[in-house]
Amino acid sequence: MGTLIMCISSLLSFLPLLLLSIPTLIQWRFGPARHLQNSGPISYPMIGCLISFYKNRRRLLDWYTDMLSASPSQTILISRLGARRTIVTANPRNVEYILKTNFTNFPKGKPFTDILGDFLGNGIFNVDGDKWCHQRKLVVHQFNATSLRAYVEKVLKDEVEKKLLPVMESAAVGGRAVDLQELLRRFAFDLVCRVSLGYNPCCLEYDCLDARQPILEAFDTASDICARRGAAPLAAVWKIKRFMDYGSEKRLREAIGKIHLFVDDIVSEKKRKIMSCCEKGEERWDEMDLASKMVRDGMDDEFVRDTMISLIMAGRDTTSAAMTWLFYLLSCHPHVGNEMARELTAIQCGDDASGFERLKELRWLKACICESMRLFPPVAWDSKHAMSNDELPDGTKVRAGDRVTYFPYGMGRMKSLWGEDRFEFKPERWVSEVERGRVKALKNYGPYKFSVFQAGPRACPGKEMAFVQMKYVVASIMERFAIRPVIPDRPIFVPLLTAHMARGFKVLVSRR
Ligand code: HEM
Ligand SMILES: *[C@@H]1O[C@H](CO)[C@@H](O)[C@H](O)[C@H]1NC(C)=O
Ligand SMILES: *[C@@H]1O[C@H](CO)[C@@H](O)[C@H](O)[C@H]1NC(C)=O
Repeated sequence: MGTLIMCISSLLSFLPLLLLSIPTLIQWRFGPARHLQNSGPISYPMIGCLISFYKNRRRLLDWYTDMLSASPSQTILISRLGARRTIVTANPRNVEYILKTNFTNFPKGKPFTDILGDFLGNGIFNVDGDKWCHQRKLVVHQFNATSLRAYVEKVLKDEVEKKLLPVMESAAVGGRAVDLQELLRRFAFDLVCRVSLGYNPCCLEYDCLDARQPILEAFDTASDICARRGAAPLAAVWKIKRFMDYGSEKRLREAIGKIHLFVDDIVSEKKRKIMSCCEKGEERWDEMDLASKMVRDGMDDEFVRDTMISLIMAGRDTTSAAMTWLFYLLSCHPHVGNEMARELTAIQCGDDASGFERLKELRWLKACICESMRLFPPVAWDSKHAMSNDELPDGTKVRAGDRVTYFPYGMGRMKSLWGEDRFEFKPERWVSEVERGRVKALKNYGPYKFSVFQAGPRACPGKEMAFVQMKYVVASIMERFAIRPVIPDRPIFVPLLTAHMARGFKVLVSRR
């Protein structure tokens, strides 16, 4: 009898809590409130959407995309136990507001710096305010139109002719499968090191395609573990592991150590050379990489290192991921590749031997690259953190401290933005003018709808360089080689810090 009373009384004491939570449950499942402002996953009091988050953890991209499609203004609100409130948007008006109109209210923020700080330090990727502004100016100045031409003529042409094409050639002769993604990643790493550090690590060599490249692995390890930190359901877990120097956190610390050593060695060697140059009375040190400029200007060692690491991270996996997905899509759509071959034949190099001028004429090729990045954006999502309360143009209320994420992957898949055929690879959607069978002009969808390079004051400063590089490389390969995937499966898009194809892209290469 006593126990029964205890049971009832304890039930009664829970009743108010239960009653309180029922309206919330109903509201999320059926209520009109859901359509009023933000849609989102089914959430419960206290734990939020932790359960659905867990169920969908292996398909977050498509889960978010589905919810965004269902939301009236393509914006959702996600709250779950152990993580901050997150607003995810695929609405171009919101994107413009966050990235440009009220830019200062949406910095990267401390939560981001926390996750990447060990790896990126004070590099441009990971800082806000004055620190960011300073580096931004340096980088933008460095990647101007004049230096772009020099980049194509000196660095790109050289790397393609001396490394990439010979490797492809031996793959064609040898007849064995190569991982095109790995090949392009090594190539992109060499390029970005030459541009930023003025140093060629020569990671792409045919003889050692199977050999490990410790420095590449260190970069991979560091970015993987940092990305997992960001995706962890509970942030406390990695912080404890870091404190105990255990497991992944220990591996991260070791990888960062290797990366620091790599950059420091190159920079101090450069410093030594520049000093001896000065002593000999030679006025100019005429290397044009950014590190040389920073050393010459007497900038702090740690600052140089952090800038370099950010630049390498920015320029390395992005272009290689974009090109890997393009080659995959071309293998599924032969008519698009045939069209590309036609354009390449029709537009030959003029007087300039490097082909820099020709690149501008290759518009179908550019349409293909854009279309491929629409579906598989190298940076699938990107987050800011609100400084103060605010309201997005669609009426979504933002609280100070909220994470606000714009989502290029989902944006590329919104019917409201791209129409019924949004899942299809159709480069023609980028073409606005055709003259005698040749593409004369492309559409410009603007950076808020096509947000793969971000937009506003923090838009990717490497965009033009990236396009030049991708066009040059894809054209050089397509003109000479045919590429056939060995694995017929549908590849899997993995969005870590930058996206890539799970298990690589094994192909057979043959001469055209
Ligand atoms: C297809 C290739 C590329 C894509 C899709 C891309 C995309 C992006 C995106 C989305 C951001 C914003 C990231 C953020 O704020 O968290 C960014 C920033 C940046 N990108 Fe790129 N990028 C590409 C290639 C490159 C290349 C080749 C370089 C130069 C080596 C580069 C240099 C940078 C830098 C320095 C930033 C930081 C800018 C800032 O915070 O002010 N990117 N890029
Ligand atoms: C921008 O953000 C601030 C908060 O930092 C807010 O007070 C203001 O209303 C916002 N709107 C515009 C249009 O700047
Ligand atoms: C362009 O960049 C190069 C270095 O890449 C620099 O030496 C030159 O001064 C810059 N020119 C302009 C006009 O900014």
